[in-house]
Amino acid sequence: MSSFSTPDIVTADAADLAAFDALFVQSSAIGATAKGGLHRLAASAEDGAMRDAFCAWLRERDFEVRIDAVGNVFGLLTFDPEAPYVVCGSHLDSQPNAGRFDGIYGVLAGAVSVASVARQLRERGETPAFNLAVVNWTNEEGARFQPSLIGSSAFMGSLSVDDALAARDGDGITLGHALELIGYRGDGMLNLPIAAYLELHVEQSTHLESQGLAIGVVRETWAALKWRVRFDGEQNHTGPAPMAVRRDALLAAAHAIVAVRAESALHGLQMHSSVGRLEVQPNSPNVVPALTRLLVEYRSPSVQLLAEAGERLRATLDSIATSTGTGFTLESELLREPSRLHDGLSELALATCAELGLAAENSVTVAGHDAISVSRRYPVSLLFVPSRGGLSHNEAEFTESADLHRGLELLTSLLYRACCQPDRYL
Ligand code: GLV
Ligand code: MN
Ligand code: MN
Repeated sequence: MSSFSTPDIVTADAADLAAFDALFVQSSAIGATAKGGLHRLAASAEDGAMRDAFCAWLRERDFEVRIDAVGNVFGLLTFDPEAPYVVCGSHLDSQPNAGRFDGIYGVLAGAVSVASVARQLRERGETPAFNLAVVNWTNEEGARFQPSLIGSSAFMGSLSVDDALAARDGDGITLGHALELIGYRGDGMLNLPIAAYLELHVEQSTHLESQGLAIGVVRETWAALKWRVRFDGEQNHTGPAPMAVRRDALLAAAHAIVAVRAESALHGLQMHSSVGRLEVQPNSPNVVPALTRLLVEYRSPSVQLLAEAGERLRATLDSIATSTGTGFTLESELLREPSRLHDGLSELALATCAELGLAAENSVTVAGHDAISVSRRYPVSLLFVPSRGGLSHNEAEFTESADLHRGLELLTSLLYRACCQPDRYL
């Protein structure tokens, strides 16, 4: 599985791998945690510093840098203003106390691949059919602002720019204001015609590692159901208030958390779930809680299963509200439909892996990715490299440098083919 190049395969060279390594070291230092992870929430000061470093890198290499209204950062290399773009990218934001690889890998490898292909096109005296671009999508994680995939959804028009900018963090700060503070609230949306979109990502699962594979070519994505649920109780004194009259919003939330887990347990390997966030008001030791808010997530390959789980959960939460004397409100619900990624690009990715000597297989993603937003309209290939122990959204998230390099080589080869040989996949 070593890197090589033959006359008909363009790939990353040693200087490209070194450029990626340097960028990755730079990124890992911006928002670094004591335990070797990354804490770089969307539109935070750290995210601003990383965006600055990324834009400086792009400008030094003659990319045209464009920032849109929701803070997506595009680095464009335009050969023919009439032609569409092959775009590579992912996200530079992280979850709280998370890993250095999730999302970051795809943006940095994307930038290096685009620069490498452009350089090699010049050396070969070749003009591509399509232009090249790299993108950093805003707030992929949905950690600080909900929903997740905000930047790519706004770009695709499935989320309005107004709704995106109005999303509020836990302190009530809007995404629009946070972007202004870091200098990344652009003027309008970019009308960028897209020929194909390629996203490289760590697998966040154990299949590649356990099978000794270098690459997973994602063909299908799981669906997700995301609910914001609220219980209204009555604030009271923990001491004197008789137990019989209490309307404890946190007791209701506790039952709800158990019910969410019990529902997914009914579906075995076909459903995952969590309550990832719980807000408690007033959150004081000697006060019966007045209000709780839960962020509930279900994921499954089957929308039907999610719909049924949602209906059952709604009835269960109603009955929990009745038995705890609280009120239940479903404040928001979002269903992310599953997606099938582009067959032609996926087949080309697998064929390219074979030529590069990279052991590869078809794969599925349970995690959300910007590639899913883009795949609703454009040809997309999502490519995975192994993740140690599958651990992710964790400071110990890890992928070997050799695996990162193999992915970068594949991305560069595929990007070249995607921009120069459209007949091979379109
Ligand atoms: C993002 O990491 C997600 O899977 O929601
Ligand atoms: Mn990611
Ligand atoms: Mn993530």
